[in-house]
Amino acid sequence: MQEKIEKIKQELANLEAENITELEKIRIYFLGKKGILTALFEELKLLQPEEKKIYGKQLNELKNQIQYFINSKKRELELKSAESQTKIDFTRPADIFHPSSLHPINIVKNRIINIFARIGFDIAEDIEIEDDWHNFTALNFPTDHPARDMQDTFFIERDPDIVLRTHTSSVQIRIMESQKPPIRYIFPGRVYRNEAISSRSHVFFHQVEGLYIDYNVSFADLKDTLEYLAQSLFDPSTKIRLRPSYFPFTEPSAEMDISCNLCDGDGCSFCKNTGWVEILGCGMVHPNVLNNCNIDPNIFSGFAFGLGIERITNLLFSINDLRLFSENDLNFLHLFSTLE
Ligand code: DAH
Repeated sequence: MQEKIEKIKQELANLEAENITELEKIRIYFLGKKGILTALFEELKLLQPEEKKIYGKQLNELKNQIQYFINSKKRELELKSAESQTKIDFTRPADIFHPSSLHPINIVKNRIINIFARIGFDIAEDIEIEDDWHNFTALNFPTDHPARDMQDTFFIERDPDIVLRTHTSSVQIRIMESQKPPIRYIFPGRVYRNEAISSRSHVFFHQVEGLYIDYNVSFADLKDTLEYLAQSLFDPSTKIRLRPSYFPFTEPSAEMDISCNLCDGDGCSFCKNTGWVEILGCGMVHPNVLNNCNIDPNIFSGFAFGLGIERITNLLFSINDLRLFSENDLNFLHLFSTLE
């Protein structure tokens, strides 16, 4: 027994394992069912009690040593393989770092704000959850006007008087109720409509509203201001065209087209060969609207206009799907990282 124990001790001193398979072989060799240590424990049973005591202790020590070797070696090998898996490859090209950038809607919104700031317009924003008065009634919408229809407007179920504003024209009323002329403002903001989401319509989008109320404000002032806007936003050679239209809150009302910025007005598939694309609605503020806000239409007059930021952004950057603006697709957003 003593000899066999000595032999195992020697073997233990030289133990080495390169990998987990070798380690498992070592375990089986010593401690497996037919392992040499297991066999010695069997032999131990046949010895005299005195010898049993001496050799039993030695065998248990050996068993512990072997177990310790196996456990610590196993941990060492596992660590090594984890390390080799996370080894840094210095030849790999670095990931492209994208600094944060402005959303295209904000880029265009800021451009419009700057254009109007240069000619003395202030900027105001107001609430998106509106009441019927500010969104419709004060803006001279007849009670049966189709825009009040459930199709277009998000109403709050509990209270039909509360709506998600369908346009930024509501801010006209809030400002005229709280300030006296001269009033010269633009109101950028988000608006909501109950529409099916597609490439051409969405449940929310963005508008910029303009309002100028003073003595003797004329349609010529409106036209001049809008031409300045179009030529600042697009090419300085851009032409504008005003077509008669109808809005309850303006009289007369018009829609404004600009010469197509893709074909310079020659006609292309984008402008359906007309050479013109529509960009906004406008008009002279209706006397009823001024009255509703306690501004005397016999003393003051004014113009208003409203444009969709998405529409302008589509024209400027040739984007043809509204959904791109709210999908947070980084590949799309990074296209604008160098613009302001
Ligand atoms: N509020 C209109 C809309 O959402 C746009 C508009 C048209 C605004 C004419 C105006 C305006 O201020 O004068 O379609």
